[in-house]
Amino acid sequence: MIPHTVRVTTTADPTGPRTSRVVPPTTRHELRLLVAARPAMAAVLLAGGAVAGPRRGGRAGLRKVPGLGWVTADPVVGRQVLTDHRHFTIVGEGGVGHLWAQILGDWVLDLFDGPGHHALRTRSRELFTEVSAAALVDGAWSGPLHDARRTLAAGRSVDVGRLARVLVGRMMISLLGIPGAGGGGERLPSDDEALTAFATGERLASIALASAGSTYLAPEQVSAAQAIVAELTRGVPDGWRHAPADRLLGRCRELGLGLDETTGLASLLMVAGTETSASAMARTTALLVDTGEQHRLLRLMADEREHPVARGAGEPDAVENAVREGLRVTSPASVIGRGVSSDVEVAGRMLRAGERVMILTWSANVAAGAFRADRPYVRETRQLWFGAGRHLCLGAALARAEIAALLHTLYDDGAPLRVVSRRAMRRVLVPGYDELVVALG
Ligand code: HEM
Repeated sequence: MIPHTVRVTTTADPTGPRTSRVVPPTTRHELRLLVAARPAMAAVLLAGGAVAGPRRGGRAGLRKVPGLGWVTADPVVGRQVLTDHRHFTIVGEGGVGHLWAQILGDWVLDLFDGPGHHALRTRSRELFTEVSAAALVDGAWSGPLHDARRTLAAGRSVDVGRLARVLVGRMMISLLGIPGAGGGGERLPSDDEALTAFATGERLASIALASAGSTYLAPEQVSAAQAIVAELTRGVPDGWRHAPADRLLGRCRELGLGLDETTGLASLLMVAGTETSASAMARTTALLVDTGEQHRLLRLMADEREHPVARGAGEPDAVENAVREGLRVTSPASVIGRGVSSDVEVAGRMLRAGERVMILTWSANVAAGAFRADRPYVRETRQLWFGAGRHLCLGAALARAEIAALLHTLYDDGAPLRVVSRRAMRRVLVPGYDELVVALG
């Protein structure tokens, strides 16, 4: 049985009292999504938030849990682990690199954590800037977003769960140059092709489902994953050789990435950027409706239209702020794993080489308070939903642009929405909505 309330310390909420009390950490619907996705993980996130979060006056939250290893829901400890590359590794047992090395081969180890990773990140820094992300979203998404807006305006309903999968599937086809599905640039992908691409990425991610206890894969899981990667990256060699420089694969070539690196990066994008983005899009929409915060957002958007003011560099507008808040409260990558590569003391505990650490990002992020469309930047969590340190999400700008594009489609006309029906995804790595039907409210 999953508890629906947990003890949280609300010290990170600048407006709240510095007390520890029993409150639901998020909405009832969000909790249902977590339970439907992975009941055991939901229990870890809720219980972990209660026992391994930051504690006032005491030790920072870091606990050893049998079967899981070290667990923390303290954003400061989490960031310390993620930025300490001398003692923690993504390729050791417990990190995603460990999974990938079994699927793609040992060359991945260097690409994920060695000098190869540094070279890859240095060269791929320009892949997803704010500007290129906005252009990607405009290019791959304008059609379906335009249709969704017209459907809503005509008084009909839109399934945001499906729409998010179509959009992300189209993005994947376009990024990976999947041949025959419009990825070669010959035509735009159909909804069915986009949904198929998304489902293929989902199958790959589901192989990691069993990895909460261990990141060692069984031989049949390795061969199933290899077949999926081969299918999804079959357009990469051709795209890398011939795609123009304004497409991702062409850009990889121009930036000096080799074919191996580009294939590795393409595999990473698939796994890291599909379910996470689709999850955040639908869940942020639901949160805006369920919490009533959509009314605040609509007021802020109307204010900005009526009284445009110059914003400072990096200062978010109303939609960008709601996007950040949606990412914080949903934290689709709810857990980040690392292996301990050499003995180290963290938060007063001795961690030994070979052990693993689970950073409960969801628990750490939701502890800052309930969803508020205009919540200011939270210093403790920063952007822990995208990780931290050298593996900080490469697609962060793209993910933000994707969610913002959806919110503009849904709310630019100035009307609130209501949820007509919803269905949670079951047995998935990233909690999300299979269906979230909305209409003008
Ligand atoms: C809401 C959406 C997203 C969330 C919450 C998210 C979250 C994360 C997190 C937490 C990490 C760090 C993992 C770790 O340290 O073990 C990460 C890494 C990564 N993400 Fe994202 N991500 C999102 C969307 C995307 C998108 C759209 C792309 C690109 C298409 C992308 C590409 C990557 C890549 C390539 C990495 C690996 C970076 C590295 O190891 O150097 N992500 N993401």
